[in-house]
Amino acid sequence: MKTTMTPLLIKNGQIVTPSTIYKAHLLIEAGQIKTISTDIEPVKPGTKVIDATGFYILPGGIDAHVHMELPVGNGIISSDDFETGSRAALAGGTTTIIDFVTPQPGQSLIDATTERKKNAEKSLCDYSLHLSVTHWHDQIPQQLKLCAEKFGISSVKLYMAYKQTIGLDDSAILKVMAAAARLHLLVMMHCENGDAVTFLQDQFIREGKRSPMYHPLSRPPLVEAEAVKRAMMMAHITQCPLYIVHVSTQDAIEEIQRARALGHFPPILAETCPHYLLLDDSCYQRPGFQAAAFVMSPPLRPRHHKNSLWNAIGNNLIQTIATDHCPFHMKNQKETGRDDFTRIPNGVAGIEHRLELLYSYGVLENHLTLPNWVNITTTNPAKIFGLYPRKGIIQPGSDADLVLWNPEIQEFISANTHYQRCDTTIYEGFKIKGKPHTVILGGRIVFQNGAFLPHTGNGHFLSREHYQTVST
Ligand code: URP
Ligand code: ZN
Repeated sequence: MKTTMTPLLIKNGQIVTPSTIYKAHLLIEAGQIKTISTDIEPVKPGTKVIDATGFYILPGGIDAHVHMELPVGNGIISSDDFETGSRAALAGGTTTIIDFVTPQPGQSLIDATTERKKNAEKSLCDYSLHLSVTHWHDQIPQQLKLCAEKFGISSVKLYMAYKQTIGLDDSAILKVMAAAARLHLLVMMHCENGDAVTFLQDQFIREGKRSPMYHPLSRPPLVEAEAVKRAMMMAHITQCPLYIVHVSTQDAIEEIQRARALGHFPPILAETCPHYLLLDDSCYQRPGFQAAAFVMSPPLRPRHHKNSLWNAIGNNLIQTIATDHCPFHMKNQKETGRDDFTRIPNGVAGIEHRLELLYSYGVLENHLTLPNWVNITTTNPAKIFGLYPRKGIIQPGSDADLVLWNPEIQEFISANTHYQRCDTTIYEGFKIKGKPHTVILGGRIVFQNGAFLPHTGNGHFLSREHYQTVST
């Protein structure tokens, strides 16, 4: 049944773009931004009018690195599925997510993508997929090409860690990167030296060092920095554009800075996550098994790395902030690693709180301007992952994915009140100031005043274009 969409007029808001803030009125029709004006013209009968006085108006957030319902072995699956995770995303002002296709051994990339896309249909926000290549064979280039043509998938994820399961060795990485470069696909790299991690893990376990505090010690900063340097070398050799996911250390930033200064590399883009900016490795000293809640890879780092990451954002060495949302309950999931930290599922929840944490601890603490906040969480991901200008910007013709941001609301984050389906949060007790008042997806109000509106339909799969350059 075809439903007509009520036109919306949003008056008196402060529109935040990646470069400026200005007051204007927005008219939304048929799911898109129709006009932006400083005068209110007569509106069609039936138009719903929203007064946004006192609110910022942002383009809906884009979280380009999430793992909903991800199987990680031993029957454990990340605890948010596409429905619960996307609900949490919307409540936090994120209207587009990009998850991953991870093929089974022997499964074609086409079949794996078809299957994952089907699972993702229950997403309440818009969604797309990156394609992980976990094994090399000669059909990979052709399958990447088909996935780009059939599904609009323009980014490929590779893992230098987890070599026993989904990780690749350098010879396979070089072949995938060469194919990706030919097809104009962006390679996203998980940069940790997998052999060094396995060596250290085995050594700790042999020595009876089994508690979660050994997780960060098995993945020290150099393990990331070395892999970042090697990934950039391979990007250079293959002339493949590279996006380094979840950068967590000063050491990695220094490598990126050195490579950029040399000037002869293909685009090298970097992402970090809120947890590396806001938490540190003291969390692994929590008593009992509580430290397991903070087991993610790369791990949290000593305090000084946080300053380096904020500075790297200020100096444009980092282009995006995504969450790597991959939640696991403590009960029955994290606790399977109670006697062996290497068995604790890696990952934490974060999708709901990305914008509010970065507003509270980034904008309000002068690490970010309002335009930088929008750029790094939304506009840059839209450009890098081929969604711009449909997404990531407020301009006529763009999708009406909008957040009316109330800068005055104050709250404390808690696992007792969050929408994420997870019995723990690494941000328990964090005070935030500023939250979405209203969230609009494709011209429909989906969330307002702390509550979801009656179901307004699911999100849409987004076929993506090739990456666009952003400033580095
Ligand atoms: O610990 C993490 N990051 N889990 C999610 C999978 C990955 O490595 O990105
Ligand atoms: Zn991840």
